[in-house]
Amino acid sequence: MAKERWGSKIGVILAVAGSAIGLGNFLRFPVQAASNGGGAFMIPYFVALFVVGLPLMWIEWTIGRFGGGFGHSTAPGMFHTLWQKNKFIKYFGVIGIFGPIVIFIYYVYIESWLLGYSVFAILGKYNSCTTEQSMSAFLQAYQGLIKNEFFSSITPAYFFFVITFILNVWIIYMGINRGIEKVCKWALGILFLFGAILVVRVLTLGAPDAAKPDFNTINGLGFLWNPDWSVLKSAKVWLAATGQIFFTLSCGIGVILTYASYLTKQDDVALSGLSAASANEFAEVILGGSIVIPAAYAFFGPAGAAKIASGGAFNLGFVTMPLVCQKIAFGNIFAFLWFMLLFLAGITSSISLAQPAIAFLEDEFNFSKKKASWVFGVVVFILCQPAIFLLSKGVVDELDFWGGTVCLVLFATVESILFAWVFGMEKAWTELHVGSDITIPRVYRFIIKYITPAFLLFVLGMWFWQDWAKVILMRNVPAENRPYVLATRIGLVIFVGILALLVQRAWQRRERKQKEGVSPDAF
Ligand code: ALA
Repeated sequence: MAKERWGSKIGVILAVAGSAIGLGNFLRFPVQAASNGGGAFMIPYFVALFVVGLPLMWIEWTIGRFGGGFGHSTAPGMFHTLWQKNKFIKYFGVIGIFGPIVIFIYYVYIESWLLGYSVFAILGKYNSCTTEQSMSAFLQAYQGLIKNEFFSSITPAYFFFVITFILNVWIIYMGINRGIEKVCKWALGILFLFGAILVVRVLTLGAPDAAKPDFNTINGLGFLWNPDWSVLKSAKVWLAATGQIFFTLSCGIGVILTYASYLTKQDDVALSGLSAASANEFAEVILGGSIVIPAAYAFFGPAGAAKIASGGAFNLGFVTMPLVCQKIAFGNIFAFLWFMLLFLAGITSSISLAQPAIAFLEDEFNFSKKKASWVFGVVVFILCQPAIFLLSKGVVDELDFWGGTVCLVLFATVESILFAWVFGMEKAWTELHVGSDITIPRVYRFIIKYITPAFLLFVLGMWFWQDWAKVILMRNVPAENRPYVLATRIGLVIFVGILALLVQRAWQRRERKQKEGVSPDAF
């Protein structure tokens, strides 16, 4: 089968930027910044961006394009090409398929709420909810956790989930060029437009309540950005900043490897990686930092904004923003722009999470796009059910912890060591610059070789040292949720095992075909 290719350079940059720009930029980032020292958070944040974020971008783009040249679009094959003598390394690559599927399982469900809320905003369905309590109750009833006058079952949420799920699989089925690239080009254009409108609206709110002139957007920006320097001494803040960089750039997941595998050997990766990261940072720091928190501050003041930020990302997105929009003229339209922006940010990320699994079936088992999309659709649809029906039992948190946190750091550590130390820095640096439109400052040779792996090993080691017992013994899980969390863990272990078996089968098949002198793709 001929390998799929991106249609244009801007197309691949927007696809990677689309993968990176997601719910993390608009919901997770403001909460992290506000609760970890405001402006001072930006110091560990930018340190992490420069010593792990950007290097990982370049590492993943380069490994992806290199592996793609050998007909591999996923980590097992790519890791194997980087270290051919090692029979085991391909099994580490399983994380690069497993992690994205695990994130996809809960991410696509949250994404579907945004589609639902976009419709509710236009219809004015939650207009009678004017307090935090009533808006929270609306959300809980929608999620099927309680029943009230708005929702008596989970059916509406399930309906929007099915639509969102089908939309994701359909885009993937349409292919790299006609599906993902096209959608990302449109979606990112609309997203930036909606983002700009919302930022202008928020920043021109001034002080909406004349009796409380201090409750204004400028003070709201100050609340987010004025630095509390004391937090720099806290390891937790550094870890939070590093985690945010991973999540927001979609690094260490495996998706950039897959996207980059559809480049040709002479396509630039250095400037493209930098451009995608810059687009993400613009969306995160400028747009993400200028909407929810300043708006919340203008209406609810410092104490209210602090409480809202500590309430977490969902509270900010699904409770605070609709309440804020209720208080301004044409609020339903602004709320629609908000939820649609988030939905578009979400879908351009979730399609990237699905692609590694599809690519694995296509490359290693010679599945057609149609067959791979069907298999993915059916299997993952079934896997999504616990996340939907056991939402309040800690299942989503568990999936996010393993898929969206541990796997990222582990995977990034393995790939950075493979790239700099096994493949070798000399070859790695040359490969990174093949077809390159820029020359990366030489200091990055040193950073990629020493600092990035050391930083990652340190983070991983520290996490293990501080938390392993607590995690294994589920000490931070409420007793009533433990059976569900344990079942999720067992399920995840079985799932990794199945993926590892598939990798083993794929390699047996390759070896058999090679012995027979047939290319593995030739049947
Ligand atoms: N990078 C994606 C986000 O920020 C996963 O949501």
